[in-house]
Amino acid sequence: MARHLITSAIPYINGIKHLGNLVGSQLPGDLYARYLRQRGHEVLYLCATDEHGTPAELAAAKAGKPVAEYCAELHDVQAEIAAGFRLSFDHFGRSSSPQNHKLTQAFAARLADMGLIREVTEEQVYSVADGRFLPDRYIEGTCPNCGFESARGDQCDNCTKQLDPTDLINPHSTISGSTELEVRETKHLYLRQSELKDDLAKWIDSKKDWPILTTSIAKKWLNDGDGLQDRGITRDLDWGVPVQKGEAPWPGMEGKVFYVWFDAPIEYIACAQEWQDAGKGSDWERWWRTDKGADDVTYTQFMGKDNVPFHTLSFPATILGSQEPWKLVDYIKSFNYLNYDGGQFSTSRGRGVFMDQALAILPADYWRWWLLSHAPETSDAEFTWANFQTDVNKDLADVLGNFVSRITKFCRSKFSEAVPEGVAYGAAEEKLIADLTKRIRAYEDHMDAIEVRKAAAELRAIWVLGNEYLQAGAPWTTFKTDPDTAAMQVRLGLNLIRLYAVLSAPFIPDAAAQMLDAMQTEKADWPADIGAALQTLPAGHAFTVPENLFRKITDDERDDWQTRFAGTRD
Ligand code: 2FM
Ligand code: ZN
Repeated sequence: MARHLITSAIPYINGIKHLGNLVGSQLPGDLYARYLRQRGHEVLYLCATDEHGTPAELAAAKAGKPVAEYCAELHDVQAEIAAGFRLSFDHFGRSSSPQNHKLTQAFAARLADMGLIREVTEEQVYSVADGRFLPDRYIEGTCPNCGFESARGDQCDNCTKQLDPTDLINPHSTISGSTELEVRETKHLYLRQSELKDDLAKWIDSKKDWPILTTSIAKKWLNDGDGLQDRGITRDLDWGVPVQKGEAPWPGMEGKVFYVWFDAPIEYIACAQEWQDAGKGSDWERWWRTDKGADDVTYTQFMGKDNVPFHTLSFPATILGSQEPWKLVDYIKSFNYLNYDGGQFSTSRGRGVFMDQALAILPADYWRWWLLSHAPETSDAEFTWANFQTDVNKDLADVLGNFVSRITKFCRSKFSEAVPEGVAYGAAEEKLIADLTKRIRAYEDHMDAIEVRKAAAELRAIWVLGNEYLQAGAPWTTFKTDPDTAAMQVRLGLNLIRLYAVLSAPFIPDAAAQMLDAMQTEKADWPADIGAALQTLPAGHAFTVPENLFRKITDDERDDWQTRFAGTRD
């Protein structure tokens, strides 16, 4: 039994995430956590809400609520939706927790002690009406290059020219619309990442087994242009972790907070403390401190490709720079984007399906299956309603659901609601067991390697084997001339339902639980010997016929949903 620490990138607090966000971090993390637990490993699976930064402040202002109250509410909303998708976090924490405040401040103090922090005086745009410095993207004006009137302070969306806020003609604050803007001096802390470049390069080079997507992004940032830049880790904002040197004030930094991307990954660690403080576990340091046992831990992170630089460079710079015995990540599984129906999912334009909407129209398993079996691993993937309908109807209803329903109903009508005995397994069954064994071992290999699509394809093939067996054996025909052989075929089929429940649980936990329930068994051990696994339910063992496991998505529903989710969610 090994120990596995797993984290999914922590979602921003401001609003409900779309399915593209879900498939890029939380869902595959959950798949892996469930699988490893089933294989008997000790797992700590953590996620949290990412609550700081300007977007959180602005979303709260838009909702007319104090930001702390807004974050508390949205945290609960996100937690409930996560539970609806059956995301099996051991703890769903908050980056605004006292634990994270303290740990972030402690890291900053330590980095300063190690000589890795420098103070920089900068000029920044201050909005008198808003009473705050404005991040570049909250300043708009006319582009000096093309005349576009809504160019942002960092870039013109029309001609793509990179801009400084001071380049804009007639600049104004997008928060209040005010044009009363001044350039003022402000002081910030910079983390001297450039000092750590060699250590980071060596560490990344040592990761020979990482997905190409992960290492290619890391190396690009490490080596492109000027290489790894020092980065500002503080901001002039009210909401966030106050800049302090541990418990002590940081002279000259009063009223400033740490940059959200500095404190967010530290929440991965603080979350383990929150887990312990919530009474869900003990000895959190066993997971995170290599001097307290965490050198036995395998740590895997899940995230979308846009998060890769922060997890391959910035956060490791914090950890390495501290020269303290914190656990570094062992494997980073990153994902490309899931597109939506010929374009992109868009949170701002409300384009695509959001997690709450998805659960309102179909149970979690339908989404889990489709999203995971189409995970954007090697390239971007696309969600279309037509594909979703076809795949869900075929894989879940026609293949798996139909198998379960045919066997259980046939048994009830021709024998009883108990496993029939019949003859011993024969040549056809031995062949099936051999085929299943091969495929199940391949399935395990793909799951171990976190090859999500390949694992899904293998699982589907495992379901198909059952249908092919039934088709060839045709117990409904055999029954007429040889009821004992038909009884044996049904006994095998019922045992196969139990085995499918065990194997499918990481992908479709609710249906798997329903199948085990119908087979009236709690025997859910991961199968070592497939022949033996198919003898688990003995003759005479009672079962029930489950409700239809999966229903089909109709053409009307497909068309209706396509129109409904085309855009403009507020
Ligand atoms: O992209 C995002 O949704 C970020 N909130 C992810 C942060 S992951 C980590 F650093 F905590
Ligand atoms: Zn322009």
